[in-house]
Amino acid sequence: MEMDTIIEPFRIKSVEPIRMTSRAERERLIRQANYNLFNLHSDDVIIDLLTDSGTSAMSAAQWAGLMQGDESYAGSPSYFRFEEAVKDLMPFEHVIPTHQGRAAERILMGIVAGEDAKIPSNTHFDTTRANIEATGAEAVDLVIEEGLDPERKHPFKGNIDLDRLEALLDDDAAHVPIVMLTVTNNSGGGQPVSMANIAGAKALCDEYDVPLILDACRFAENAYFIKQREDGYGDASVKSIVREMFSHADGMTMSAKKDALVNIGGWLALDDDEWAREARNQLILTEGFPTYGGLAGRDLEAIAVGLQEVVDEDYLEYRMASTRYLGEALTDIGVPIVQPVGGHAVYVNAKALLPHIPPLEYPGQALGVALYTTGGIRGVEIGSVMFGRQPDGSEEPANMELVRLAIPRRVYTQSHVDYVIECFETLYDRRSEIQGYEITEEPPQLRHFTAHFRPLSPETVHRESSPKALE
Ligand SMILES: Cc1ncc(COP(=O)(O)O)c(C=O)c1O
Repeated sequence: MEMDTIIEPFRIKSVEPIRMTSRAERERLIRQANYNLFNLHSDDVIIDLLTDSGTSAMSAAQWAGLMQGDESYAGSPSYFRFEEAVKDLMPFEHVIPTHQGRAAERILMGIVAGEDAKIPSNTHFDTTRANIEATGAEAVDLVIEEGLDPERKHPFKGNIDLDRLEALLDDDAAHVPIVMLTVTNNSGGGQPVSMANIAGAKALCDEYDVPLILDACRFAENAYFIKQREDGYGDASVKSIVREMFSHADGMTMSAKKDALVNIGGWLALDDDEWAREARNQLILTEGFPTYGGLAGRDLEAIAVGLQEVVDEDYLEYRMASTRYLGEALTDIGVPIVQPVGGHAVYVNAKALLPHIPPLEYPGQALGVALYTTGGIRGVEIGSVMFGRQPDGSEEPANMELVRLAIPRRVYTQSHVDYVIECFETLYDRRSEIQGYEITEEPPQLRHFTAHFRPLSPETVHRESSPKALE
């Protein structure tokens, strides 16, 4: 008989201690960090949900793979094992390793973008957008309307609006060198893109003779959503869904720090020989020889093994269940989150949770700090701190005030997540006592990483002891 409980489909062979801290200690540490969670030392964090990027736990097979790494400068067998593993899922002609995803983006945009170019996507991730804009080109986000509304439910909220894409191509295809799709759509809450939407985008691209490139960091999570939610895919294997997704594309950029289950790495894959030749020339200039591209041979081995493990359906079932488990528990408490829960993270709607804090007193920052002082949990503000400062120096509230809780792959167990849920229960009861913040110091760009904050009135959040941690 099938059991209902979905367990972590692994046992733990090697452990890393978590240093427990008291609430008084955390209050001192966050004050010393000027109330900026990026300034904390990570060993002062109990549960670190800052990002799912580069934070995966590697398997015994991946660690064994490291020992096989061949560090030859040129022609290493580790490269060929890496290339074979990529092509097994994504059968592109050319596979070009890079040290991480943004390096692949920079090389690609250096070839295809430039002044006057427009590059549409469902939503460009911020490094992709920055690499497009650095060439003088315009990055255009065309996600469907449902994707912009945190409350609205839709099975594929990451879909690109095909009508708007068609209108853009019809109007100006000569200035569109590529169309991109981010799977899953990170900036939109880790929401998936359907196979029909990928195929629809490809059909338009073919009509206007424009290549389609996938930003494929979370391809396996996207494929699993297709299996669960799209008609006709329930019985298909994830591997076959992955292959079908990429059969519609002419190339991909990849951050291996996500769905290749490793701590560093990436690649650019292309079918076009001429673009690949130019990319390899650029690679030699800034990353390294084409058979290592800024990575060690051992990193390439770990990616090769990670790609086989990430399409394992027991792994994906557990992965999706663990994100959903946190999202559903927060919803049951009454904590508003972006719906439906995405693949790699739960996004808490701080504006709705803390309506007494105006956007420019940073409700997301306030919630992030309160989560840390309450339970040593670190998330990240995605709101007016991150997006509020305008190029002309003025400050505008962001569209949404969110705190992202990203789930590292294979790192935390259900009791860690239960602890996070208990912290939210405590916080929810005391939410009216959470105060806003002001910024006392900030750099001209990307202020969220280094800004200093000050609470607007003395901390009045409850002073009880923290929830019991894993006793
Ligand atoms: C959708 C998406 N694209 C690109 C990147 C950039 O990858 P990297 O951090 O490896 O440079 C990320 C990283 O977070 C991402 O989520």
